Amino acid sequence: MRILVTGGAGFIGSHLVRHLLAERETHVVNLDALRYSGNLDNLKDLDGHARYRFVHGDICDAALVDRTVREQRIEAIVNCAAETHVDRSIVEPGGFVRTDVVGTSVLLEAARTAGIRRFVQVSTDEVYGDVPSGRSKESDPLAPRSPYSASKAGADLLALSYFTTYGLPVLVTRGSNTFGPNQYPEKFIPLFVTNAIEDQPLPLYGDGLQQRDWLYVQDHCEGIALVLGKGEPGQAYNLGAGEERPNREVTEAILGLLGKSRSLVRHVTDRPGHDRRYALDCGKIATLGWTPRFSFGEALKATVAWYRDNAGWWQKIKSGEFRAYYEKMYGARLRDAQGGR
Ligand code: DAU
Repeated sequence: MRILVTGGAGFIGSHLVRHLLAERETHVVNLDALRYSGNLDNLKDLDGHARYRFVHGDICDAALVDRTVREQRIEAIVNCAAETHVDRSIVEPGGFVRTDVVGTSVLLEAARTAGIRRFVQVSTDEVYGDVPSGRSKESDPLAPRSPYSASKAGADLLALSYFTTYGLPVLVTRGSNTFGPNQYPEKFIPLFVTNAIEDQPLPLYGDGLQQRDWLYVQDHCEGIALVLGKGEPGQAYNLGAGEERPNREVTEAILGLLGKSRSLVRHVTDRPGHDRRYALDCGKIATLGWTPRFSFGEALKATVAWYRDNAGWWQKIKSGEFRAYYEKMYGARLRDAQGGR
């Protein structure tokens, strides 16, 4: 199969590209705009790979997308390209609507015109909104509450509408909070790990009792690949680990693995509209044969070790434009913050 992976230089995308190439018959074309979190360092090991090709470009560029699909004889598309960080969506929502909604619509149109055999939209558990109790099922109504999750919900529903309206073989995956090597250090786990390594404060939002379900990136990619190969067109599939933990507990686990003190923790002003909890019912994907292979404990240990051993990767990022982002997002909050628990 000849697969177009969009956003393949990002965190989940780069792991997915590598995972798909492990299948001998697969050719992968990676279309990535290389914005702030797209990073070709993530794919260095694929330089010169016979079944891999990189195309630099934006999924909103319809002419480029059409040309790439046609010239590369693409048979399947996996859309990982997205603006993904909730905090950035609160500050600048427009880019999220553009990439996540308009970009997805461009890809869907290209897929429809070219008669693509499979289209996987990589969505998120955040489309269900805050889940105070119980677990979200794929049939639940979507109730997103941030510009990020609303944009992803728009893309998710638009993709499914192409199945209903045009019979395009669309599949949607709704993954939970993903972590692992190569994740851009704006996200909770890589931010806290790298700050702790450098003895910098850890900005914990609000009371730190918000819960997320932590899925290792390798498990997430295996789930996406399974849906690509075996999912039923027109269906959405939840991908969660069943490893729900309050942020405080994750923070303590990180500090414990690095042998650092709790005094690094700062309770800072909460994120506006912060969803307290997500939780997924993953019975549907289990019927296809997927369950996560990695426990949270072993995956966190491997992730912390990766950041410790690959300081060059994240220090290059953190010494660049990230510094201005960090000051804008955290500067005042950290100066006003309370320490400890
Ligand atoms: O649930 C899947 C989603 O997980 C993905 O669709 C999103 O792309 C991804 O960003 C993530 O969203 P979250 O908002 O849950 O992830 P984030 O890493 O930003 O935050 C995780 C939790 O940690 C959340 O409750 C907010 C909290 N947090 C985060 C940061 C960055 C802090 O307490 N302090 C921080 O500095």
